[in-house]
Formats: sequence, C-alpha cells, structure tokens
Amino acid sequence: RVDYAIRPKRLAEYIGQARVREQLGIFISAARGRDESLDHTLIFGPPGLGKTTLANIISAEMGVGLKSTSGPVLERAGDLAAMLTNLQPGDVLFIDEIHRLSPVVEEILYPAMEDFQLDIVIGEGPAARSIKLDLPRFTLVGATTRAGLLTSPLRDRFGIVQRLEFYAIDELTEIVTRSARLLGVETDREGASEVARRSRGTPRIANRLLRRVRDFAEVRADGRIDADIADQALTMLHVDSHGLDHMDRRLLLAMIEKFEGGPVGVDSLSAAIGEERDTIEDVIEPYLIQQGLMMRTARGRVVTRQAWQHFGLVPHEQALDTS
Ligand code: ADE
Repeated sequence: RVDYAIRPKRLAEYIGQARVREQLGIFISAARGRDESLDHTLIFGPPGLGKTTLANIISAEMGVGLKSTSGPVLERAGDLAAMLTNLQPGDVLFIDEIHRLSPVVEEILYPAMEDFQLDIVIGEGPAARSIKLDLPRFTLVGATTRAGLLTSPLRDRFGIVQRLEFYAIDELTEIVTRSARLLGVETDREGASEVARRSRGTPRIANRLLRRVRDFAEVRADGRIDADIADQALTMLHVDSHGLDHMDRRLLLAMIEKFEGGPVGVDSLSAAIGEERDTIEDVIEPYLIQQGLMMRTARGRVVTRQAWQHFGLVPHEQALDTS
C-alpha cells in the first residue's frame, strides 16, 4: 500500500502526541537497557490517529518482529493459540479492535499475558485434555477506540496504557507537509495548513484529503497546492470550512431538525440517520464533542449553541437548557 510509504517508522519521525511519544520513548529505552521485552501496551483513541503506526514503531524501536491480527478475526481459542505459538522471543503481537475478542479467546489471553503460558483444552467430552505450553516472552500491543469497552480483567493486564488525542492544526500541518514531500507534491505552508484545518484532527483523513487535493491540483491547476486550490478541492469534496464532513453535518442537523437540539438518545439518532450506533459513538461523535459542537449528558446527546450557529440557525432557548 502507498500508505506504507508515508507512515512514520520510528518514534523520531512521529509528529504530535507529545506525551505518548515521551512516555513510550522512556519505557522503550528502559526495557532495552534491561534487555527485556516491553510491558504489554494498550493504545486507545478514535480511528485514524496512529494506533497501528505506534504498534509498528514499538516493534521497530525494540528491534523485534511484529505479528498482527484483530479481535473479530480471532474467532476460536485455537486461532489465538496459533498466533501465540508462532511468536519469536520478544515479538510484538498486535491485536487491533481488542475489545471485540470473544470471551473464550480472552480467557486464553490472560495466562499468556501474565505468565507466558498457553492453557488450552484439546478434544471434547471425556477425551478432552488440558495442556499447558510455555510461550516465548512477547509484548501484546492492543488497540481499541475506547478503553471503557474492555473488560476490566483484560484492561488490568496492560502495564502501559496510552490514550491518543486529536491532533492540533499545527501538528497536522507538519504531517501534511511531510506526506506531501514523500509523495513529491509541491505544497506551500498555507496549502498544507488548509488541508490540516479540515481533517477532523486526524492524520489518516489529512493524508487522504491531501491525495484528493493533489488530484484536483494536477487536473485543474499546475499541480501545486496552495490555500486557494486546497479550499476549492475540499469544498468540491463537501468538507466544510470547519472540517466537518457529510456525516458530521447529518448528525448535527438531525439533532437540530428532528430533536430540537436534544437531549436525544444515541439509538434514536442511529435510527434517524441510518448509521450504526458504534460508528456514531466511535467515529463521528468524539470529534464533534472535542470541537464543542455537541455534548453527552445524563439525559442524552445535546447540540451546543455553536452547532446551531455553524448552520446559521438560532437555537430554541429550551433546547440549550440542559439543567
Ligand atoms: N502520518 C500519519 N500520522 C503521522 C504522525 N503522527 N507523524 C508523522 N507522520 C504521520
């Protein structure tokens, strides 16, 4: 994949998430100094902020291999057992969407994480036997959108827990500038900053929009990206000047037009806009909340005054009374 070429491979190339970078840098150096594997690490945060990238960086910095899988792929205990017995000493095992592991698979993971032991039952009925195998030491890197989705026994077994935040515009500008250089696209500071401002605080979106703006610049102009070309291209893509995309606007407008600004439950919203509840909670909502456009309250979701203003509307006073 082309993505692979622009993904940072070492911690020093990674832009933003200063706290995560500092902490991981220390834990990695310390583990290396002691010639140990890194403690199991949980990374959580909205999609596209760099969870997979960080798992790859951890394996590169530790100088070990990486085996990658995901929660929904590990259907049976044997699927995880196969991954675990295939690890080299010190390897990183990356499990994406780790909150979606089935309970039987999770049961296998506990002794593997804690004692590097594989406890597995083979056969069925009276012939069933339990076998124990020693596993090589390894580092489990788990990724999830929200730490709260994990069962507490699983969460408690991670020695390192890191939360990724939405990126600031100057950080995204730096990321877009770096990606543009690697893609061989000419971009000035204002062009990169325009793409950054409209990328929902998310590098994956910034890099995707950069490619589409490049297409536009090549076909409609001379291939160079400046603020004006970026604005034209992003407007064509229905990314508004605040960086809200089609789904963001649909959600906010549904809350305003169908529910008078809320409070409204997430399931009612899901039905109203025909989007999965999980997508609303994991993908759409976190950015809108961070931007101060909506809130979660005990009685449900409400839009803020800023959301009404975003659409040039005047709020119904009672809609904002969340007391
Ligand atoms: N590309 C995507 N995310 C990045 C990051 N955090 N730093 C540098 N390049 C990136």
